Amino acid sequence: MASKDYVKHVWTIGSYPDIGEDFLSMAAHLVDAADVGPDQAILDVACGTGNVAITAARRGARVTGVDITPAMLEDARENAAIADVDADWHEGDAVDLPFDDDAFDATLSCVGHMFANPPDLAASEQVRVTRPGGQIAFTSWTPKSVVPAMANVMNEYLPPNPDAPEPPFRWGDPDVVQDRLGDGVADLEFETGTVDQRSLSPAHLWESARTQSGMFIVALEDVDDADHPALRADVLDVIDDYFDDTTNTVPIEYRLAKATVA
Ligand SMILES: C[S@@+](CC[C@H](N)C(=O)[O-])C[C@H]1O[C@@H](n2cnc3c(N)ncnc32)[C@H](O)[C@@H]1O
Repeated sequence: MASKDYVKHVWTIGSYPDIGEDFLSMAAHLVDAADVGPDQAILDVACGTGNVAITAARRGARVTGVDITPAMLEDARENAAIADVDADWHEGDAVDLPFDDDAFDATLSCVGHMFANPPDLAASEQVRVTRPGGQIAFTSWTPKSVVPAMANVMNEYLPPNPDAPEPPFRWGDPDVVQDRLGDGVADLEFETGTVDQRSLSPAHLWESARTQSGMFIVALEDVDDADHPALRADVLDVIDDYFDDTTNTVPIEYRLAKATVA
């Protein structure tokens, strides 16, 4: 299991806030799907730079954000100040949330808690801190979307790791979600959406992934130098399958899951 310091490092290097600008519509979709309204107590798990929490706060909710990475929380504080909304920000792990049982009316996570391990604990923690009858809702990249497709290519060039955690993208599979939430929830429903990552060409997308995404930056450090040109060619082939030349975007598919806490 990766240490907390390693996880913080992965999410501090690179420049997730720049990549994440193209994901803002997903945060709004999540807040809509959970029917967030005035005066509700909302938790944004793995809040990153605060996109979901700040969207919910602008609808009148009382919001709290929690993330394992201090650098993300600094950006979240700055974003809340710019948006002129109140929010409580906490450093913490999605598998050990620093909140009481039943503390929130709704607990949301936008491509966030999918990265926490072990995933069963991330699921039960989200349920634990939400009051009975409250909502949980989250988004995850689907297993067939471009991000796991790129990660799969990368894995072909990495030494086998028997201690690797379950791939985060399994959260995009409805059967897996059902299994992980079990009878802690009722009325589990799914929606599918896409965000469009802007990019001038497939090579530009790879350039931004390898220089701005902590996940790809750390993985590339373990690839033999001699393999980098072949890896790049293979990744570009994959991106090419998704790239939309008519809009200069790469659609990234996500699954939104929402349920009522039992
Ligand atoms: C892809 S970003 C998403 C951020 C944000 N939710 C958004 O919509 O932009 C993933 C976030 O998960 C956080 N994260 C990863 N593992 C975590 C864990 N175990 N507990 C809490 N946060 C975690 C990272 O620090 C990062 O901010």
